[in-house]
Amino acid sequence: MQTVVVEHPIVRSRLSVMRDETSSNAEFRAALRELSTLLVYEATRDLPLTELDITTPVGPTKGHTLANPPLIVPVLRAGLGMAEAAFNLLPESQMGFVGLARNEQTHDPEAYMASLPDSLAGRPVIVLDPMLATGGSLAHCCELLSTRGATTIVVVCALAAPEGVHRIEASGLVSSLFTASIDEGLNSNAYIVPGLGDAGDRQFGPR
Ligand code: PRP
Ligand code: URA
Repeated sequence: MQTVVVEHPIVRSRLSVMRDETSSNAEFRAALRELSTLLVYEATRDLPLTELDITTPVGPTKGHTLANPPLIVPVLRAGLGMAEAAFNLLPESQMGFVGLARNEQTHDPEAYMASLPDSLAGRPVIVLDPMLATGGSLAHCCELLSTRGATTIVVVCALAAPEGVHRIEASGLVSSLFTASIDEGLNSNAYIVPGLGDAGDRQFGPR
């Protein structure tokens, strides 16, 4: 698995707004949206292109279009805050949804919905979730995608813990991971330290 920590001054500043406990829900959502644009931009850098003939007002030339736009899959709830940014960059794409809620006692993900195409054979997938903590949620999501035939899965998250990175690498299902930071680790509640708290609650309020 290729792991990329995106280094950019704007990435750092938006992540700092998200980490700051005094940021409002609206400030957090805006910072996540902007951060997601930058992360997805990096995550799509090597998408293959198809050449085509186009005509400018001045004459003919060669242009390009995405050869195989990826399916975008935000993990509900928190990944919803990244979805619009990804869709704006990839308007040719389609979107699927996976709903997972981590059990706060066991820290295992509980699946409550999946809305995905039956077959993902030959379709690259970009999974969006701001938090990669134990990695249980993203591993579960990638297994769902893999059982439908996905073989190229790119994960984009705002923050990761080393434990989560190792877990999804060990799954063997993820081609590459793009994140703004790999933090120190997890606390006894399996929250990322220093992290930013609960990314779903910070966007939408407590469940
Ligand atoms: C958060 C986050 C991830 C998961 C990460 O979601 O968005 O999906 O926890 O933790 P893990 O790596 O240990 O599995 P949560 O379950 O809190 O649900 P929410 O998005 O509805 O708030
Ligand atoms: N889920 C979150 O939202 N935050 C964490 O730190 C861990 C899991």
